[in-house]
Amino acid sequence: MISQRAQNVQPSATLKVTGRAKELKREGKSIVSLSAGEPDFKTPGYICKAAIEAINNGQHGYTMNPGTPELREAISAKLQRENSLNYDPSQIICSNGAKQSVGFALLATVDPGDEVIIPAPYWVSYPEMTRLAEGTPITVRTSFENNFRLTADQLEEAITPKTKVLILCSPSNPTGSCYSESDLKALAEVLRKYPDILVISDEIYEYIVFEEEHVSLINSAPDLKDRVILINGFSKGFAMTGWRLGYLAAHPDIVKAVSKIQSQETSAPSSISQAAGLAAYTNDLSEVHAMRDEFKKRRDYMVESLNAIDGVDCFTPGGAFYVFPDISAHLGKTTPDGNKLETSTDLCLYLLDEFGLAVVPGDAFGEPNGLRMSYAAGMKDLEEAMDRFRKGIGCLL
Ligand SMILES: Cc1ncc(COP(=O)(O)O)c(C=O)c1O
Repeated sequence: MISQRAQNVQPSATLKVTGRAKELKREGKSIVSLSAGEPDFKTPGYICKAAIEAINNGQHGYTMNPGTPELREAISAKLQRENSLNYDPSQIICSNGAKQSVGFALLATVDPGDEVIIPAPYWVSYPEMTRLAEGTPITVRTSFENNFRLTADQLEEAITPKTKVLILCSPSNPTGSCYSESDLKALAEVLRKYPDILVISDEIYEYIVFEEEHVSLINSAPDLKDRVILINGFSKGFAMTGWRLGYLAAHPDIVKAVSKIQSQETSAPSSISQAAGLAAYTNDLSEVHAMRDEFKKRRDYMVESLNAIDGVDCFTPGGAFYVFPDISAHLGKTTPDGNKLETSTDLCLYLLDEFGLAVVPGDAFGEPNGLRMSYAAGMKDLEEAMDRFRKGIGCLL
């Protein structure tokens, strides 16, 4: 009854922990969850107001498939103003979230059997979207030592005649790691040797960077622009996850192909969300920066607390709202009940069952020696979470 395509897709590996957390909560247990992939803030008021006005003004109909001309113009202006990237509005397609943009970009470019290089730890959807496009995900494990950045040598080694796409995500979910200009220049140097390889550059966490300015791949290698599919959206920086609004910018041929797919699968995103997105990109960013500054305080607290625990090693991520500590020193240890914790999933289930702490195992992201903690939670929850984590780790033998 079920297609091979659907059977090939793995259910989200994060569900094991989040499903169990919900079960325990229902049973009345106290659970602190650092598993969320979304800001805990509310969407800024001026954006909500624009959406309400759109409703009251009767903006209730379908919009053009790639999005309203006003929003695409605002995105084009934003890319020019903030990123020094020159995209005509016709090169932009708005979607129901960056997730849809990544999925349709893969459907538009990958043929059966094509290989897609995905640095690990990766966002869980990349390999599964690649499978849905009948491509083959080639995951390349990056290292804690290099703050999980793919190196030029690793890229070169992974490339085969079947390579079609490289997916880069900076700042990264799940590690918070950011590529610097020189990292990107080194990768570009390799890509220049293989003119048929496209790059999906997922920059959805662009506004949540702490010390350095965000660097777009294309800024580091303007000559690769026609081969790069730039992905961005409103979910993370503007705390708009539920509004479902993202976009891609690319070469006109790619845009045409994605537009065809979008027109048959979903059409444009909600007219109301597009009005909200227009307000987001045509007002000042002070509220966005205030959220970023709050995330930075939390990041500093998390990194310091984690590194104070024996056998836990956490680099300081440059962006997003995740930390991804190395917990390998505790794998293979035994719980007070005599259970051996072989994997990061075992460790996370132990923390959940015994200490009511929900964090996501690195196994879900292709990195067995780590785990992801989201700090999109208030300081009180973070303090309680770190207390539980410290106790849980401290009990292991
Ligand atoms: C790396 C990455 N890309 C894309 C998305 C999708 O974002 P959106 O809510 O715009 O679909 C997410 C959301 O978790 C993400 O972490």
